[in-house]
Amino acid sequence: MYKLIAFDAYGTLFDVYSMGELAEKLFPGHGQALSLMWRDRQIEYTRLVTMSDPSPGGSKHYLPFWELTIRSLRYVCKRMGLELNAASEKQLMDQYAKLTGFGDSLAVLQEIKKRGISTAILSNGSREMLSTVVDSNGLKPYLDKVVTIEDVRLFKTAPQAYELLLKAFSVKREEVLFVSSNAWDALAAKWYGYDVFWVNRLGHPFEEIGEKPNFEGNSLSKVLEVI
Ligand code: LAC
Repeated sequence: MYKLIAFDAYGTLFDVYSMGELAEKLFPGHGQALSLMWRDRQIEYTRLVTMSDPSPGGSKHYLPFWELTIRSLRYVCKRMGLELNAASEKQLMDQYAKLTGFGDSLAVLQEIKKRGISTAILSNGSREMLSTVVDSNGLKPYLDKVVTIEDVRLFKTAPQAYELLLKAFSVKREEVLFVSSNAWDALAAKWYGYDVFWVNRLGHPFEEIGEKPNFEGNSLSKVLEVI
């Protein structure tokens, strides 16, 4: 019986690859590649920052996720030979700030609340960007807490990041179901000791290391079947 359902934000509740459409308008023929490489580089930067100084007080290389998102966009454009002027950068980041939620995000959160179970986001995102995207998608009333790694200045997959849920809620590890569409995030949360639901929208294989998630489904709505 789960007491807390905690969701990853980017890629899980909010569609990061929807950036591809705007990127395609700005850089015809490159939109999809740009959005894929952008996401990879963004996550790569979070890992570099965290692994290079995993001190308990946080990484001295820490930069907010918002900043890493801009820096990774700049890098990827340079790498792809695309000229990113200030106006295009602003347009892309403005859209990133208000990323579209997946169609079922709102309904799933509403239903979980209706069943009397606590809900949260646990995200690498910085506080302000999370607050903006949660508000713009109307999710705020259905989330008990939005937990950001900003407090530990170590990004997922550091255990300190996953631990934040246990500090924010009075629940035991086994009472948490963590939901992510990022296989690496699902894997690390499982390693941390949570039960995990992997939202596998694209029918990808799971990682070849670690334990398999407890549950897998092709949409967020499938979470409702296991709680
Ligand atoms: C998040 C990104 C990593 O933590 O998906 O929201």
